[in-house]
Amino acid sequence: MSYRPRTDVPRLIAHRGASAVAPENTIAAFEAAKRLGASWVEFDAMLCADGTPVVIHDETLRRTTGTDGWVAETSLADMQRLDAGRWFSEEFAGARIPTLADALEALGRLGLGANVEIKPATGHEERTGKVVARHLARDWPASLPPPVVSSFAVPALRAAHAEAPGLDYAPLLEMIPDDWRAHLDAVGAQALHCNARRLTEGRVREVTGAGAAVRCYTVNDARQAKRLFARGVASLFSDRPDLLPAVA
Ligand code: G3P
Ligand code: MG
Repeated sequence: MSYRPRTDVPRLIAHRGASAVAPENTIAAFEAAKRLGASWVEFDAMLCADGTPVVIHDETLRRTTGTDGWVAETSLADMQRLDAGRWFSEEFAGARIPTLADALEALGRLGLGANVEIKPATGHEERTGKVVARHLARDWPASLPPPVVSSFAVPALRAAHAEAPGLDYAPLLEMIPDDWRAHLDAVGAQALHCNARRLTEGRVREVTGAGAAVRCYTVNDARQAKRLFARGVASLFSDRPDLLPAVA
């Protein structure tokens, strides 16, 4: 089977927003990405205790809010009282953890496309996939290109696909395994997302030779970016969209 990936995903996608210059996974990071020239962002979506999808990477609140607690055990009201900017710098004090709805509103306002990574808390994989997919299928801004929906969590991605088969899915893999076709075919995907450091030349040739796209995280160095593009990698996730002029 030959794959036919979409062609409207840009070469560089701002990872967690422009997370080198603003606190990751905040609206401020999306705004910074836009200002630095990015046309897409990647962000992580997890369910908090009442089942609302929120934009956060870690299962715990410690690193990005300085508070103890688990996202999956914290109510939305309590999450929204937390400061998700001060850990990064005083300049961003008061930044909030966005809900997925907040994020979609900001993307629509800024005209930014996105890769939404489903990031389930452990034990909440299927529910997270289902809720995030339902939300995206229902509320994605019509003015934007359709999102790419990815996840490391196979049960989450499969549950998302079952809930909203019309969305565009991309399996996220630390390293592309021998059975990469099965990962693509399970969710009708045309692209794989993987760790740039674990990608071999042979594997990228094999996958792109079958027509599928390879997108890599996280690349913050222009020389590494150029090397990966030369090997046939289609897009890179970078904390530094200011690299754009040097690589795209
Ligand atoms: O989606 C690409 C990348 O974000 C995956 O890793 O841990 O940064 O979410 P992580
Ligand atoms: Mg991510």
